[in-house]
Amino acid sequence: MYVGADYYPEHWPEERWETDARLMKEAGLNIVRVAEFAWVNMEPEEGAYRFDWLDRAIETLGAHGIGVILGTPTAAMPAWVADKYPETLAQKKDGTRVTWGMRKNNCFTSGAYRMLSERITRAMAVHYAGNPHVAGWQTDNEIGGHEVCYCASCRRGYQDWLRRRYGTLQELNRAWGTHFWSEAFGTWGEITIPDDAAAHNPSAYLDWRRFFSDLNVEFQADQLRILRKTCPGQFVTHNFMGLFREINYYDLAEDLDFVSWDNYPVHGKPGVPYGASMAADVMRGLKKKNFWIMEQTSGTHGWGTFTRNPRPGEIRKIAYQQVARGADAMIWFRWRACTAGREQYWHGVLGHDGKPLRRYREIKQTAGEYHALAEKIEGTTLKPQAAIVYDYESHWALAAQPAYRENRYHEVLARYYDAFYRAGISVDMIRPDDDPGGYRLVLAPDLYVMPDETAARLAEYVRGGGILLTDCRSGVKDESGLCHERTLPGLLGEALGISIEEYESMPDFEYRMAGANGFDGEWTARHYADWVTPVKAEVLARYGEWHMEAFAALTRNRYGDGYGYYMGTVCGEEAFYDALAAELAEKAGIRPILAPPAGVEATMREGNGRKIVFLVNHTEEEKEVGLPFAGTELISGKKTGMSARLGRYGVAVIEIDR
Ligand code: GLA
Ligand code: ZN
Repeated sequence: MYVGADYYPEHWPEERWETDARLMKEAGLNIVRVAEFAWVNMEPEEGAYRFDWLDRAIETLGAHGIGVILGTPTAAMPAWVADKYPETLAQKKDGTRVTWGMRKNNCFTSGAYRMLSERITRAMAVHYAGNPHVAGWQTDNEIGGHEVCYCASCRRGYQDWLRRRYGTLQELNRAWGTHFWSEAFGTWGEITIPDDAAAHNPSAYLDWRRFFSDLNVEFQADQLRILRKTCPGQFVTHNFMGLFREINYYDLAEDLDFVSWDNYPVHGKPGVPYGASMAADVMRGLKKKNFWIMEQTSGTHGWGTFTRNPRPGEIRKIAYQQVARGADAMIWFRWRACTAGREQYWHGVLGHDGKPLRRYREIKQTAGEYHALAEKIEGTTLKPQAAIVYDYESHWALAAQPAYRENRYHEVLARYYDAFYRAGISVDMIRPDDDPGGYRLVLAPDLYVMPDETAARLAEYVRGGGILLTDCRSGVKDESGLCHERTLPGLLGEALGISIEEYESMPDFEYRMAGANGFDGEWTARHYADWVTPVKAEVLARYGEWHMEAFAALTRNRYGDGYGYYMGTVCGEEAFYDALAAELAEKAGIRPILAPPAGVEATMREGNGRKIVFLVNHTEEEKEVGLPFAGTELISGKKTGMSARLGRYGVAVIEIDR
């Protein structure tokens, strides 16, 4: 198993490299990522390449059995690039260029930038293709976290992209509904960049997001073509950012060997990091396979102010949470806190002083455990029977028009996701156009952009025996951002057995909500209400107010061999979602791995005839977890009994007896 750190040899005197390599080796590290911000060190002036220093660093590491991942350095342009080719700097909305000195500040349609990016990539690729210590490549760094550019070249690029998408202006005018506000275009050149998400045509905005995403994917593709051709024996990956919205990550992942991502779940006070789990599931979903962690939390971090310090045991626990969800490699960010630059406070395995202390010891312990576990977990992954649809386009469209103030895509998904997590049930995060047939249960919350094919596929899924839940604002828009004309929920009407003629947001009032059939009790409906007419569906929860008596808040409908559920509001109580997860799992015949106590995460990796359960205690209290199976705890090598005891931030990795 690859276990390592992000290393910046260019930050330290050469005499130190040997010490670093030795300390890494002693800690059990066998891989480092290097060079992703070292453009100026490799190309101090245009066309003059210098790899001697990096060769020596790689040699020193290699001599200790440590391999490298090379990052192409295009996320931070040298000063000479900006000076010589000012058009490479992104242009702001006000027409001025950004000031050089930050990373990720380039224009992506700039021919000069694209050429320079290809050139440094090619120079590195040619130089390192045969190097036995180079395991693979990372393209750029965190693509998408860039400045958005509004220059003339980006505007032309957008117009060209639209021409390819729509073919004719007539079709574009139709797709965007430009009869509104005199927006019809007579020539492609008239089209402007919709730079105000809250005021410009939402259809134009949606296409602009698509264009910007495609542009970034294309930029990566330039580098990929070179790396594939020149370095066929080395892998290519990219460091994704988990729950990041700006890029369609399905597209960005498409041509990579595997996905890697950067995980920083330490913020305020300790709590259950649900988000890091959902992010891991999104990452696993991009290519439907396990992923790597390219940057993992190893200390307190921040650019100006910093977070709390991970408590003893927490660094290890954070890393295990990811292995539990499919991480096959663990690389901590960064090896050593740097003494210079914007990230002086982003602490690493070592501090500024370079001494191997508490965090080093914790990483060493964890690395040692991973090497011992490697043989058991190799070839295993999660195999959930439930899935949540995760859609970038709905997310973009909602950003321009959330309909109700609190409609934040990840929060909406998390209400359901977290409930399944608490119940010990894992889910896959899938594309809207994926075949839902492989799952017993599919949730499609907030699926705002719903082309007819998607709706038809979901309806068919229910008819064939699937269990589906969807909710507020799903299916409102077609693929170009126009509202569907059909009464909501449109093509899902029959499968859900409901009709929604009216709806409202609830900025400063709530409704009482009364449940039945497993949802008994008094609940609160807030933020938004669909006035759901149950046509054929059973009502599981209804609203209490006089004018809402005819309408349902939660419905269940038998359709064909399956059930369609609709949740027409946001419930204020977490327990409601727990009841909903239980109901859905029961109908789908999905059983949890075990019943985890609060604050404990339970997942299972399977494969090669093995079933390995991971338990991660996210709290600072001891937890006792009942075990409905016999097995062996692999870290301690001990047989388990009726229960497992987890200390604060404790973990257990249990192979179930066959
Ligand atoms: C990201 C980047 C790293 C580093 C950290 C901390 O994850 O990939 O280079 O900048 O953030 O800011
Ligand atoms: Zn530009």
